[in-house]
Amino acid sequence: MGTTTSLQGLVALVTGAGRERGIGAATAEHLARAGASVLVSDLVPAGPAGEEAQAGLDATVARVRAAGGHATSVALDVTDATQIEAAVEAAVSAFGRLDVLVNNAGSGIGVAAFAEVTDDQWELSWLVNVMGPMRLSRAALPYLEQQGGSIVNVASTAGIAAQAGYGAYTVTKHAIVGLTRLLAAELGPRGIRVNAVAPGMIHTDLGTAELELIAASSGATVEDTARSVVESIPVRRLGTPDDVAAAIAWLAQPGSYVSGAIVPVTGAMAAGLN
Ligand code: NAI
Repeated sequence: MGTTTSLQGLVALVTGAGRERGIGAATAEHLARAGASVLVSDLVPAGPAGEEAQAGLDATVARVRAAGGHATSVALDVTDATQIEAAVEAAVSAFGRLDVLVNNAGSGIGVAAFAEVTDDQWELSWLVNVMGPMRLSRAALPYLEQQGGSIVNVASTAGIAAQAGYGAYTVTKHAIVGLTRLLAAELGPRGIRVNAVAPGMIHTDLGTAELELIAASSGATVEDTARSVVESIPVRRLGTPDDVAAAIAWLAQPGSYVSGAIVPVTGAMAAGLN
């Protein structure tokens, strides 16, 4: 294996990739810079929010092309089994194969104290954070095994260690860690590697929402909360989407011996717990 990540000639499908500041869009760019063609996807709801979401997907496609890569987009709600099948077929019909699946789409819904999380929040959290990746992995399987592909799931430190107040998010992120390990054990003999990244505090829309939540529960301002969070991180900064994307692209590298790993991308936040 060379020292530079190369995904030359490979095809990747990335979920949740339509937000400019998100991990998914950065991942699409990193995979493309390493040589992969990328099908970028995201939830495109009906109505005005859908236009914004489609514009976000278009922006990711433009970003990949500006980086010299090939990309196209598809609307994909990962809670919808039919759309999942269609997205996998779309990747294969656009680019002829599928080598890398990045299950990045995730929902922070159900981040609350245990007794306050509603059944609807439990269900949606389960559908987005676990059933979506599970169904996508299953749909992609026949293509991934043709030439030895890989799956990279986006878990969280909340998938490894529990923290009070993180409700359904903690439980479903633990489940995606379990799914990663199960699939690594089961699909290795079929030539497929399966890994996850476990990001810490990453500066995205979701990361900002988390800081606001911590601020609200402690009564501090968001700025003061951000400062004290940064002070608790040994490398003394929040992570960026690029930090996570680089780890994902590295895990996707063909021929790697890394499988079944849950890779912390945390700047050593809670080191040892993850
Ligand atoms: P983000 O909010 O920008 O991205 C989440 C993406 O998931 C969005 O594009 C959203 O549209 C998509 N999504 C939500 N529901 C969906 C559905 N039903 N179908 C398809 N897509 C759907 O936030 P970010 O931070 O980029 O999150 C990406 C992943 O990273 C998530 O899995 C999140 O749990 C994980 N993560 C983020 C951390 C952070 O600090 N930002 C820390 C640890 C994990």
